[in-house]
Amino acid sequence: MIEIKNVSKSYVKNKKSIDSLNLEIKDGEIFGFLGPNGAGKTTTIRMITGILNADEGDILIDGNSITTNPLEAKKSIGFVPDSPDMFLRLKGIEYLNFMADVYDVPVEKRKAKIEELTKKFEIYDDLNSQIQSYSHGMRQKIVICGALLSEPKNWILDEPMTGLDPKSSFDLKEMMKEHAKSGKTVFFSTHVLEVAEKLCDRVGIVNKGKLVFVGTLAQMKEKFKDNGSLEELFLEITEE
Ligand SMILES: Nc1ncnc2c1ncn2[C@@H]1O[C@H](COP(=O)(O)OP(=O)(O)OP(=O)(O)O)[C@@H](O)[C@H]1O
Ligand SMILES: [Mg+2]
Repeated sequence: MIEIKNVSKSYVKNKKSIDSLNLEIKDGEIFGFLGPNGAGKTTTIRMITGILNADEGDILIDGNSITTNPLEAKKSIGFVPDSPDMFLRLKGIEYLNFMADVYDVPVEKRKAKIEELTKKFEIYDDLNSQIQSYSHGMRQKIVICGALLSEPKNWILDEPMTGLDPKSSFDLKEMMKEHAKSGKTVFFSTHVLEVAEKLCDRVGIVNKGKLVFVGTLAQMKEKFKDNGSLEELFLEITEE
């Protein structure tokens, strides 16, 4: 469970990139975070994961504050950032072992988990190559594998489907469904409205740092009394 309590963040004076955000993502839920470019999705995700500090408010991960109890909070988080271009000089296997070390995954367990995940995403045979030799999609896959190695309860994914081929994208979506079905939490941002429509139990729409809607897609259609497509509805909600 993730509780975002009255969180604000400015990078520059007098311009709030996130303004008084309140959100609660329950266990067993897939929550989609939508909004146009620059709306504040990545900023929110960076605050949830403790990469950025909020100026105001607090965020609780299963009751642990990311500001006052960050280690406990982070232990239960699996995070996929918006760009997978990191640790480029490490070999795939070195990166995964590093992630397993950070999250204290026992050696025997990590072996099995690395094999399971990398075979699923079809990068098992590439683990002895440096990440800099990987394609964009392969980098995205290794980051996803690294994030899920420790079987974290709370998945925080920033545009996780970007760059994935259809099979991997399908597999990841199935994994997200299974994860939520087992009573755990998935919070992800996306621009792909069809993905949100098919996958999410609830969505939040953020625009210029402000949450402009939260609820199910059925509630969204009801509230805005729109018979058009999800795309038209989204444009209506986020327009000037
Ligand atoms: N490091 C930074 N310094 C200054 N301003 C920033 C910084 N990072 C983000 N911003 C600003 O904060 C706002 C929100 O950016 P953010 O990256 O959270 O948007 P986003 O919703 O993730 O967009 P996208 O869909 O393009 O990924 C934007 O106005 C952006 O210009
Ligand atoms: Mg972003």
